[in-house]
Amino acid sequence: MRHWWEDAVFYQIYPRSFADSNGDGIGDLAGIRGKLGYLRGLGVDALWISPFFKSPMKDFGYDVSDYCDVDSMFGTLDDLKSLVHDAKSRGIRIVLDLVANHSSDEHPWFREARASKDSPKHGWYLWVPDSGRPPNNWKAIFELGTAWHPNPATGERYLGTFTRYQPEFDWRNADLREAIYDIMRYWYNLGIDGFRLDVATAYLKDERLRSNPFSFKANPDFFQRHIYDRNQIEVHEVFKEMRQVADEAGERVLIGETHGQDPVLAASCHGERDDELNMAFNFEFLYRPWGACSFRESAERWYAALPPGAWPNFTLSNHDQPRHAWRYRSGRLTEARARVAAAMLLTIRGTPFLYYGEEIGMTCERIPRAALKDPLGIATWPLRSLGRDGERTPMQWDSALHAGFTTAEPWLPVNSDYKSRNVAAQEADPVSLLFWYKALIALRRSNAALREGAISFLDLHPDVLAYERAADSGKKVLVLLNFSSRSKRVSLDAPRRCLLGDERKAGEVLGPGAISLGPCEALIVE
Ligand code: GLC
Ligand code: CA
Repeated sequence: MRHWWEDAVFYQIYPRSFADSNGDGIGDLAGIRGKLGYLRGLGVDALWISPFFKSPMKDFGYDVSDYCDVDSMFGTLDDLKSLVHDAKSRGIRIVLDLVANHSSDEHPWFREARASKDSPKHGWYLWVPDSGRPPNNWKAIFELGTAWHPNPATGERYLGTFTRYQPEFDWRNADLREAIYDIMRYWYNLGIDGFRLDVATAYLKDERLRSNPFSFKANPDFFQRHIYDRNQIEVHEVFKEMRQVADEAGERVLIGETHGQDPVLAASCHGERDDELNMAFNFEFLYRPWGACSFRESAERWYAALPPGAWPNFTLSNHDQPRHAWRYRSGRLTEARARVAAAMLLTIRGTPFLYYGEEIGMTCERIPRAALKDPLGIATWPLRSLGRDGERTPMQWDSALHAGFTTAEPWLPVNSDYKSRNVAAQEADPVSLLFWYKALIALRRSNAALREGAISFLDLHPDVLAYERAADSGKKVLVLLNFSSRSKRVSLDAPRRCLLGDERKAGEVLGPGAISLGPCEALIVE
């Protein structure tokens, strides 16, 4: 049986930066609701919304102090219900971001836990006696130094791998597990279609809390192989339990964020009998250099790693990595490359995840030190890292002040190209990137071969990524993507009719024999 998420195009919204409805400079739920018409027009089927729950915002919502309520910054629970309702009526599903590796240090559970060793919640978090030194070499990711933070009230240290404000749960504790499953049930009952599970592969840690071994290759990952602080085999038990809770609620999707780039690790989260997560993010495309062979090799590795029956997925950009338009920038070919990348993401076998703004080619700009917000960006500023603010700047809606995102000063600066690069301008331009995304999504929706067909890669030219998608009905679609900045000749075995091309008209017949693909040309034929 096919599941809805296998056919869906997902669109990730970073709610602070999408649309501000009340003029405080921060995006909100009512803002998203106001843009549902745009999202329907784009053609996406499901939204994954980054956290908007009550939070002290030390990690911009990835530090939750109440999992069942909306932070007032983003609106109210009623705003969420209206958003879910209106989205449903337009055929758009909503997936929430569940941050269940850690809570905020201001969550009532942690407040209770840290007050006394005798508190019933104490065992919901991870503690060691404070001997004045951390118990092992685990490091904090968004601050400098150890991941073990002192708690004078109990004479202990607790684990917080991201910041000290994000204490980590002890997933070996049965009550904690039930509490998280209850949160999931609560949202399922409100009509939520599933969850993206934040750092799901880190839920469990080594029982003996051993130090990670040194590895010279594991840079910038603290030169450690993370075999003890993440990726414990017992996490699969949790995935199975979560899947049961999801299945009891009906067709709900669980999408795991795995920690790291290893496709084999991501693949393992599906379970050997497809009884764990429905999908686990395959992040390799986020780190791949530009090139036909590069992406082909990555995709083939991913397909080979997946257990039988598991459904693949692909992502080019998200809120944690520089946007792909920026990563693959190449002077005047930047836009053409963005078109090739979009054609690949939307025609390769697997569920595509879009990140807000990629459909208009939003890029990253260096944010001045004083305007930085991301704790990672601030901690690593001396190393001149980009941090993550660059990919979180406000959505560029039009050429008005603040790009139509807000009427106030936005929480992060708007990219300087907003006057020319924005939704309104691209909606008026039939050769814009936005039109290209819409055409690709529409084609995918109407074409079974592209949605669910098998994939086989063809060796036509080393610079041309070429694959055929074949539906059960026998219908075939051929995708030709020239990654090179020069024209390339490829040979077609039979006459093919153009379905969509950025340099050719639909209906044009090509071949048989040699055809020439222009620099960064994308062509889809049947
Ligand atoms: C995940 C999120 C990231 C967040 C971190 C801690 O990696 O994607 O944005 O900072 O988890 O929750
Ligand atoms: Ca607002």
